[in-house]
Amino acid sequence: MNSLHALIDQARADFARAADAAALENTKARYLGKAGLITAEMKALASLAPEDKRARGAEINAVKQAIERALQDRRDAIEQAALQAQLEAQAIDVTLPGRVADRGGLHPLTRSWMRVEQIFRSIGFDVADGPEIEDDWTNFTALNSPQNHPARSMQDTFYVDVDDVHGQPLLLRTHTSPMQVRYARMHVQRQAAASPMSPIKVIAPGRTYRVDSDATHSPMFHQFEGLWIDTDVSMADLKGTFTGFLKAFFERDDILVRFRPSYFPFTEPSAEIDMMFESGPLKGRWLELAGSGQVHPTVVRNFGLDPERYIGFAFGSGIDRLTMLRYGVTDLRLFYENDLRFLQQFA
Ligand code: PHE
Repeated sequence: MNSLHALIDQARADFARAADAAALENTKARYLGKAGLITAEMKALASLAPEDKRARGAEINAVKQAIERALQDRRDAIEQAALQAQLEAQAIDVTLPGRVADRGGLHPLTRSWMRVEQIFRSIGFDVADGPEIEDDWTNFTALNSPQNHPARSMQDTFYVDVDDVHGQPLLLRTHTSPMQVRYARMHVQRQAAASPMSPIKVIAPGRTYRVDSDATHSPMFHQFEGLWIDTDVSMADLKGTFTGFLKAFFERDDILVRFRPSYFPFTEPSAEIDMMFESGPLKGRWLELAGSGQVHPTVVRNFGLDPERYIGFAFGSGIDRLTMLRYGVTDLRLFYENDLRFLQQFA
């Protein structure tokens, strides 16, 4: 009798020693398993006299139930402890200072791009955007550079390896000048009945591509095109507009601007626009900034306009170049290497 009851305490002690669920189930077998102590007591009943069996059986059952309860208690305790340990391991220390995201900054080229837009908007120019994958007609032919025209070799072109639906080659635009054609044709279409039509006055900044790569050339670079067409827009307006832009862009007045005769198929006459600072580290050097000219009559016709009636100027300038001059950057490639030590200076 006593030894039977002692089993309860013994089991409780054994269960308490089991450190985890697996150890506990092993310990359980010692009491309740097929070869366990309680099971052995049950089997021993068979050899008792019938009058003793009943009492002994009830006693064994009580002990068995007590052991089962002890087992369940220990199971619960182990489970609780495991949960507690897990919670502690996963605890978030809310007193730690937060990890603050680094504050981003605009890329210097983006700053220039936005600056160009803002200055031209302030003098009444619209801002237009268009495709970087361009068709041959819009990039060259409409701009008075027909197939086999020597001027095409002025710009080394990336061709795209698919054919346009109209069967003409596609290419990465070599300049923003195709935006003259796209914008003007759209404008003319919208103004179909108006006479005279409202002026075309737009800039088109964007990415351009040429097979070219060194300290001052990147295969991908940025230009902004300017186009102003009306019944009486002259080269004098070009000079005033571009000179005013440069003074606003560089925030200084001591800038000399020179228009040097040049050639482009889509303008006649054509001029390179050069600029010189009258003070500072670049003082006294002519810097080439843009191509420009009076829009060629053939191009005006391709806009859908009568060149006898409508006239104006166009220019194309490099955003990368202007940015280098504004910040004193001497290697264009720095803009494209994404080195934070460089970029953070502009943030
Ligand atoms: N598209 C010319 C270039 O990229 C620049 C230009 C634009 C010249 C408009 C004249 C008029 O070199």
